Amino acid sequence: MRLRRVKNALETIENSKYIILNPEDHKGEFIKVFGNNNPIHLEIGMGKGDFIIQNAINHPEINYIGLEKYESVQMRAVQKLNELDIPNLRLIHMDAENLKDVFDKEIDTIYLNFSDPWPKNRHAKRRLTSSYFLSIYDSVFSGKPHIIQKTDNIGLFASSIVSLSEYGYTIHNCSLDLHNEDLENYQTEYEKKFSEKGQKINYLDAVKE
Ligand SMILES: C[S@@+](CC[C@H](N)C(=O)[O-])C[C@H]1O[C@@H](n2cnc3c(N)ncnc32)[C@H](O)[C@@H]1O
Repeated sequence: MRLRRVKNALETIENSKYIILNPEDHKGEFIKVFGNNNPIHLEIGMGKGDFIIQNAINHPEINYIGLEKYESVQMRAVQKLNELDIPNLRLIHMDAENLKDVFDKEIDTIYLNFSDPWPKNRHAKRRLTSSYFLSIYDSVFSGKPHIIQKTDNIGLFASSIVSLSEYGYTIHNCSLDLHNEDLENYQTEYEKKFSEKGQKINYLDAVKE
C-alpha cells in the first residue's frame, strides 16, 4: 500500500479521546478502560475505521478496539470520530507484532479485514494469518481463539484456510461471496471499493477448540 505522509497525523491521533496512549499500561486490565465486563473485539489493520465504528454503534454490548500501525491512516478514522460519542470504542496506534506486550487473555474475537496479502512466498510470515501471527494471538484471547476474516484476495484466503487449519482452528463458516449471504456485515473502505468493481468478498469465521 502506498502511503502519503500526513502532517500532524501523530499529534492528531494522540489528541483523540478514543486513542489509548501507552496501551502496555493496561495489559490484563482493559475491562477497566471500558468500565464493564463486556467482551472485547479487536480489529487488526482497521484502516480508516468504517467497519469498527459501525460495529461499535450497532453493538453497544461489545467493546471494540481498533489497531492500526500507520498514523496517517488512523488519523482518517479519528477525524470521522470527532463528532461522535461511542463509549464502547477505543483505538490503538501500534503494530500487531507487539500484541503480546499489550493484551493478556482479554480479547474475545479478532477481525482481519482486507489484510495485506503478501503474495510472495518469502513474505508469507508477514500475512496476518501466518503461524507466526497466530502464535502471537494465542496469548491475547480470553477463551477459545476466534478469528473472523474478510478479503478480496483469493490467494490470501486460501493461505489463511491452510494456516488456520494447520494451527488447530476449525472453520465454522466460510463464504466465497459474503454479500450474497444472510449475515450481518458492516463494510470496510476496501470492501466498498472492491465490491463496487464487482469483486466477490471472501469470508471465514474460525475457532480454535
Ligand atoms: C489493505 S489495508 C485494509 C484496511 C481496512 N481494514 C479496510 O478493509 O478498509 C490493511 C491495513 O492494515 C494495516 N496493517 C497491516 N499490517 C499491520 C500490522 N502488523 N499491525 C497493524 N496494522 C497493520 C495497514 O497499515 C493497513 O491500514
